[in-house]
Amino acid sequence: MTSRDRFLSALACQPLDRPPLWVMRQAGRYLPEYRALKAKSSFLEMVKTPALAAEVTLQPLRRFPGLDAAILFSDILVIPEALGQPYAFRDTGGIEMARRIETRAQVDALAPVSAVPERLSYVGDTLALLKKELAGEKMLLGFGGSPWTLATYMVEGGSSDDFERVKLLFYTDRATFDALLEKLTAALIVYFQMQIAAGADAIQIFDSWGGIIAGPDYEAASLQWIRRITAALPPDFPVILYAKGTAPHLTDQAFSGVRAVSVDWTNDLAIVRRTLPANIAVQGNLDPVLMQTTPDIVAREAGRLLESLRDTTGHIFNLGHGITPQAKIECMQALVDTVTTWK
Ligand code: CP3
Repeated sequence: MTSRDRFLSALACQPLDRPPLWVMRQAGRYLPEYRALKAKSSFLEMVKTPALAAEVTLQPLRRFPGLDAAILFSDILVIPEALGQPYAFRDTGGIEMARRIETRAQVDALAPVSAVPERLSYVGDTLALLKKELAGEKMLLGFGGSPWTLATYMVEGGSSDDFERVKLLFYTDRATFDALLEKLTAALIVYFQMQIAAGADAIQIFDSWGGIIAGPDYEAASLQWIRRITAALPPDFPVILYAKGTAPHLTDQAFSGVRAVSVDWTNDLAIVRRTLPANIAVQGNLDPVLMQTTPDIVAREAGRLLESLRDTTGHIFNLGHGITPQAKIECMQALVDTVTTWK
């Protein structure tokens, strides 16, 4: 069975001998071969050069052939950039956006949605290269940020600790907030359609900051926009929704038109599996910090997670968030070995 078939079967919640495995942000800084490329080109140069972006995408699969999926090497923030709000990395860590979006006039001055596919054509070119290279063997994942998560960066002007500006906009000027989210939703729809046309087998939406909204406002601030996106994509096209810190909303997420819900490590995945509808796959959810321990500990904890889901269907093995730069190669190897040899 190819990795791609295994992944698609898991998304369809069909029985499998073992779950498929992939890791978010896998091309990240923990791989020496990534750091070697990064020494020659900036992150954004690599993202915008299809041959380089494809190469970085494939690096984890070359080192760990047991991985079942490749995730496009890019960033969620290419959407604000395509809309006219570029970004950079702060020397002290985190993201710095050019300007802050604070007024309705600034929202209206963003680039038209019709400009997005052309400005991000390098993403389509990268996916097309990958599609060819993977030859249908491995799953090819496209992705983007959720409208809410992108809005946090755009309104805060970068990474934030308290998210006060975006929350204040939500509570005090809902018309401007909605105009921004509508714009982002429309841009993401054309962006995902382009990724699908270029060969993405599934799309993962990152609602990384979904967990900072007041519970009763999750629908208005985030989930309703995600639902609009899934409704606009081809029926049956698989969308995976990752959100951090949103355990109370898992059932609502499962009914948002997605095929899989990806959860952080604070959830007990076996309980999530029992709670969500049987036709919705679950993805996750080892604590990424385990990748900084030892191969024995990783094997033990991965085995424990697998055991807790024995005889269930619809599980895609993953970490509960992205892999960190401090992750050890030997821990990643232990994870791949444990999942791929599990009986
Ligand atoms: O596996 C992959 O490499 C896929 C590519 C990918 C990246 N970012 C590459 C990246 C994906 C799927 C993302 C998603 C992303 N980007 C999210 C959602 C996922 C999550 O982490 O919750 C978010 C919030 C971003 C925005 C972003 N980009 C942040 C917060 C950072 C870290 C900044 C810092 O100072 O650490 C980035 C940078 C980034 N994106 C790197 C990579 C490989 C590191 C760049 C480098 O230093 O080489």
